[in-house]
Parts: sequence; C-alpha cells; structure tokens
Amino acid sequence: MYTPIFDFVSHYSDSDSLRCHMPGHKGKNCGYPFLSPLFSLDITEIFGADSLFHADGIIAQSEAAASSLFHCAYSCFSTSGSTLGIQTMLALMKLDNRSIIAARNVHRAFINAAALLGLDVFWLFPSASSNLLSADFSTNDAEKLLLLHPNSCIYITSPDYTGKIADIPAFAKLCHKYNAPLIVDNAHGAHLAFFQPSLHPINLGADLCCDSAHKMLPALTGSAYVHTSQKRFAPLIKQNMSLFASTSPSYLSLISLDLCNDYLAFHICDDINHCIPLITQLKDDLSDSLIFADSEPFHITICAALSGFNGLAFAQSLRKLSVECEYADDDIVILLMSPICSDNDFFTLRSALRFTVNTLPHVKPSSQKFSVPVLKTAMSIRDATFSTYETVNVESSVGRICASVDVPCPPAVPIAVSGEIISQESVFIFKKYGINSVNVVK
Ligand SMILES: Cc1ncc(COP(=O)(O)O)c(C=O)c1O
Repeated sequence: MYTPIFDFVSHYSDSDSLRCHMPGHKGKNCGYPFLSPLFSLDITEIFGADSLFHADGIIAQSEAAASSLFHCAYSCFSTSGSTLGIQTMLALMKLDNRSIIAARNVHRAFINAAALLGLDVFWLFPSASSNLLSADFSTNDAEKLLLLHPNSCIYITSPDYTGKIADIPAFAKLCHKYNAPLIVDNAHGAHLAFFQPSLHPINLGADLCCDSAHKMLPALTGSAYVHTSQKRFAPLIKQNMSLFASTSPSYLSLISLDLCNDYLAFHICDDINHCIPLITQLKDDLSDSLIFADSEPFHITICAALSGFNGLAFAQSLRKLSVECEYADDDIVILLMSPICSDNDFFTLRSALRFTVNTLPHVKPSSQKFSVPVLKTAMSIRDATFSTYETVNVESSVGRICASVDVPCPPAVPIAVSGEIISQESVFIFKKYGINSVNVVK
C-alpha cells in the first residue's frame, strides 16, 4: 500500500541533507547509537512533510487511506493518543452547546476534558457492577436522561478496560431518535473494524469515536485516530484538536500510523482470523479452572476471585514465568493480546496459566459486592477541578467535595468525580481499591 509519510521521511533520511531545522538531534547518532535510527526519521514540518493540523499533502493522503480502511466519512490522526481524541470530540459538543450524558465508566481523560471545557455532565450510572472496571448501562436509563436534557449527546466507553463491549447499535438508535450525537471512546477497539462483520462503533452507528492505534494495533505509543461518520464534523475536527495539542506532533508516531495502514489493508484480517481460534482454544483448555469475563477476544480477562484466586498473586505467578499482564487487582487479571501475537505467544501464555492454576493456592472467593454510589453534586467539574484543595485520608473525606481527580490508571468507574460530595460508601470502595487519600476542596 502507498505509505506517503513513511516514503517521504525515509527518502529524506537517506538524502543526508544538512538539517538546518528542528529537532536539535539533527538526525545524527548524538552518542546514543540505540536511538540513532529513530533520530534519523524524527523530523519536523519541513517542506513537503505536510502539517498535521493543516494537512493537504502526505498526511492528508494517509488519513484519507485510514478513513477508507475504517469506512468512515472522515478520519484524522492524533499523536497524543485517545486523550486528544476525547478532548477534540468534546470540544465539538461544546461548539454545538450540548451537555454530555456520559456512561460513568469514563477514563480520566474525559473528566479532565470536561473540566477544561467547562462542560455540563449528566451521569448514566451502571445498572449492575461488582467491580469498578466493568459495568452494564441501560438504554432505558439513557433515554430518561435524554428526555431531561434535550440538547445533549451520549458518550460511552466501549470496549471498556476489561474488553466488554456495549450495545452500540441500541445506543445509536436511541441517540438518533432524539437527534443526539453518539460519541464512543473506542480507545481499546481499533482492531474491531477488521472483524467480519465489523464491530467498530462508527460502522455500528456512532457519530464520533476515537481509537488508540497504539493499544491494539502495531503502532507507536501515542498514535491514535479520531473518526466520524458525519461529514459536517470533518472540517471542524483539526481546529478543535489543535486547541489541546502540541504544535510539534511526532513524525515517528505519524509514520507508524502510516505504516499501520498497510498492515490494516493487507494483514490484519488474516491475523484476526488466525488468532481468534487460538484464544478460544486457550480459554476452553482452562475452563476447568478459570472463569473468563465476557469480552472482545483480544482482552483475556480472568475473573480471578470468582475462580478462587487472588488476582495480584495470580499476576505475580505469571510474572515469575515471564508473562507480564496489563492489569491486576484482587479480583481480576487482564491479559491484553493483539492480532500480531504469534502461535508461540498463545502457547507460552497457556502454559503459564496452566502452571499458575495448578500451583497457586486457592483463596475463598470474596463476597464483597457493592454498587457504585450516586453522589450529590455540589460544584461543577470545572470549578471543583480548579479550586484550591487539600489532600486528606479517605476516612476524613466524608461530606467533603471531591476536587481534582487523582486516580492512577486503570480507567474505571470513578468512585467520586470533581464537584461531588464524598459519601461513607465511597470510602469503602476507595479502600477496596487501595486508595488511601483523596483531594478535597478547601
Ligand atoms: C478507555 C480509555 N480511554 C482513553 C484512554 C486514553 O488513551 P491514550 O492513552 O491513547 O491517550 C485510555 C487509556 O488507557 C483508556 O483506557
């Protein structure tokens, strides 16, 4: 496939031109031989290299190729991950003066963007949940919120961190009944466009979505897409993206997105078709000992507690066998695979899982069930985020207003969002997830 960004940059790199332009490494070895091949491809917006936010050359051509591969009306590249994609999509809603009805399992990038943009957010709480990482959301509840807040949009995260997929067609149908855009944080689902049939949100009715190419595709960290099915959003996306982005987007990231087009055009479908039976086989082989969560295939999420194991001990056992997981807590372990994984990778994983279930002591399954507390709001997300705050022990936070949300990865249903009054129930959940202190408004 035509890879215009890679072709241009590699040709420039071979040309040995004297680089009287940024970056300061000048494409040279600089005494770090390990980085030297990267330095030689790491350019800035020189003549012919196009410009991400005013693209009409090689970047525009590569984005057009991506758009056709994902079957979108328009797609554009981000070199600052889905975080920038979320900021961009929400800025478009701000332009439309819309409030946001958001399924509560948002990544913190959403909360930060809502604070920066001063958005009104109305939460769709999970209908059921036994952990913070995954939840079900009902379209009936969403419809009630749409009736209460007519000029809004719906924002959902799908797949979530555990790989669980929401019913996008049902949400799309509901949104379109109320003339509300459907926005999907598809950070974990770029590969879903290449399933047969496609499970990609845009192909299932979403109006806007972002995908982190770097999470599920062979692309460098930070590489992502914003896609839309609506031509009317296309001319607005770059300008709104540039509000939040560096003026020096990484060409290494752009090259990796460009080369990814070739992978998507020629290899990914075969790789997916090859991997899915291997994943099914792996799960079948271990089904006597392990319970797996309902997820898209490449997120292998083990319900450790339900299977009679402590998730952290499980992950530690895998680590000793040179298998590093994406995430673990007491209850679950997430193993993130991708279409480029080899037969040998799945073989190694299956052996490590079998060894672990055979050797790790069982623990009594925890019976601690909880539902995510619906908290009272005292301030807007923006006001609380930018207020003076103090950090207190979670035990002393009851009745105080949550200030800036300071949760480490992973993305999960936030226990409390900026502006909400922390309750006694929140304290129990903070502690369950090892969070001992919280920022509260002074
Ligand atoms: C659900 C979800 N959305 C958004 C993001 C942010 O993506 P990125 O790291 O590409 O900026 C993440 C990152 O972990 C995520 O898990």
